[in-house]
Amino acid sequence: MSDKGLRDVIAAQTNISDIDGAAGRLWYVGYTIEDLARNASFEEIIYLLHNLELPTRPELEKLNRFLIRERELHPFLARMMPTLAQNTSPMSMLRTSVSASSAFDPDGWDESPEAEYRKAMRLIAETPTLIATFDRVRTGREVIPPNPGLSHAANFLWMLHGQEPDPEDADTLDTTFVLYADHTMNASTFTARIIASTLSDTFSAMTGAIGALKGPLHGGANEAVMQLLLTCTDATDAERKVRDMLTNKQKVPGFGHRVYRTFDPRAHFLRKMSKQLGEAAGNTKWYEMSERLIPILRDTPKSSGEPMNLNPNVDFFSASAYYTMGIPIDLFTPIFGVARVTGWSAHVMEQHRNNRIIRPTDDYVGPFGLKVVPIEQRQ
Ligand SMILES: CC(C)(COP(=O)(O)OP(=O)(O)OC[C@H]1O[C@@H](n2cnc3c(N)ncnc32)[C@H](O)[C@@H]1OP(=O)(O)O)[C@@H](O)C(=O)NCCC(=O)NCCS
Repeated sequence: MSDKGLRDVIAAQTNISDIDGAAGRLWYVGYTIEDLARNASFEEIIYLLHNLELPTRPELEKLNRFLIRERELHPFLARMMPTLAQNTSPMSMLRTSVSASSAFDPDGWDESPEAEYRKAMRLIAETPTLIATFDRVRTGREVIPPNPGLSHAANFLWMLHGQEPDPEDADTLDTTFVLYADHTMNASTFTARIIASTLSDTFSAMTGAIGALKGPLHGGANEAVMQLLLTCTDATDAERKVRDMLTNKQKVPGFGHRVYRTFDPRAHFLRKMSKQLGEAAGNTKWYEMSERLIPILRDTPKSSGEPMNLNPNVDFFSASAYYTMGIPIDLFTPIFGVARVTGWSAHVMEQHRNNRIIRPTDDYVGPFGLKVVPIEQRQ
């Protein structure tokens, strides 16, 4: 019998990313995440994940020109936004808008690799605009058009807040995009690959992936972390609440991982960012609360007496970092999506290059031998 959650099942071969869960290491295309987070921009990561090599300066400039040109929303999507902003969550808006975008893509129904690449780049370019527009519309503020002079991350903050972002905030957001861009066979990437494996298209795969990301056991965890911190008055209160959660067998958001058995390497960066942003803003409350929870999840004994050994994952410190940057909580998961659309689309193209339909089997545990009773006689 296989594991219920497909633990340790290899579902694909990939050249895109790799994790060593025991050592807490992550690579994109052979580069360590530490090297990339320190030395490459998100735009370089977009190129890397799709082309399996870092861009030269002219290659990066060409990609940038394309992304900047494609940031503007199609008028239909802009017209849809007031209805979506009134009636849906940001993640539902993103799922619906990404799906609807297929109707306006200049490449239409062309599913050649070249067209699918352009569609992926358009979606990468468009998602920040969708999210910022949604937030401006729902709060009754004027929509800010994209600024072609700014990077992907800085432009997002510009469209969201309507002012030139603080360079430190833009750099921090850029780094979080780098950290979030891909992560092997996580639930949303697997979803995208399953859809792609039927030879369905990029828009369908991205739409499904957004649906998978939305859940609190996956991308939704960063919002759940901040919601939890906000219910706490101080670090002592946070500690008490989390101990109660563990006693009641509740999952503490932002901790634990299917693959990592130690600190998530991305969490090291986000921990530092959360501290620095808190200090710059003169409010380290959220950072301090977060720090207080780490030993609890690590050291609390399980029923066996062994320590739980649960460590912060990528979503734990991104919560306090984004909150300190003034980003509304329900945009945390969509922002994760802004970055991960890069990895999803790279995986879709990789699946298409060497495809076999993904179709696992199951273990039927229901009855046999039943007979249909006429409906009038059924109890
Ligand atoms: C990420 C997650 C879904 C992984 O699930 P998983 O691979 O099935 O978890 P594991 O098999 O490692 O869990 C081992 C044990 O730790 C417990 N556990 C795992 N994460 C936990 C958490 N965050 N809080 C409390 N207990 C947790 C499990 O309930 C399980 O307990 P059991 O052995 O008594 O049944 C899970 O850790 C989780 O729900 N975390 C919180 C949500 C989150 O932060 N998600 C973002 C992931 S990047």
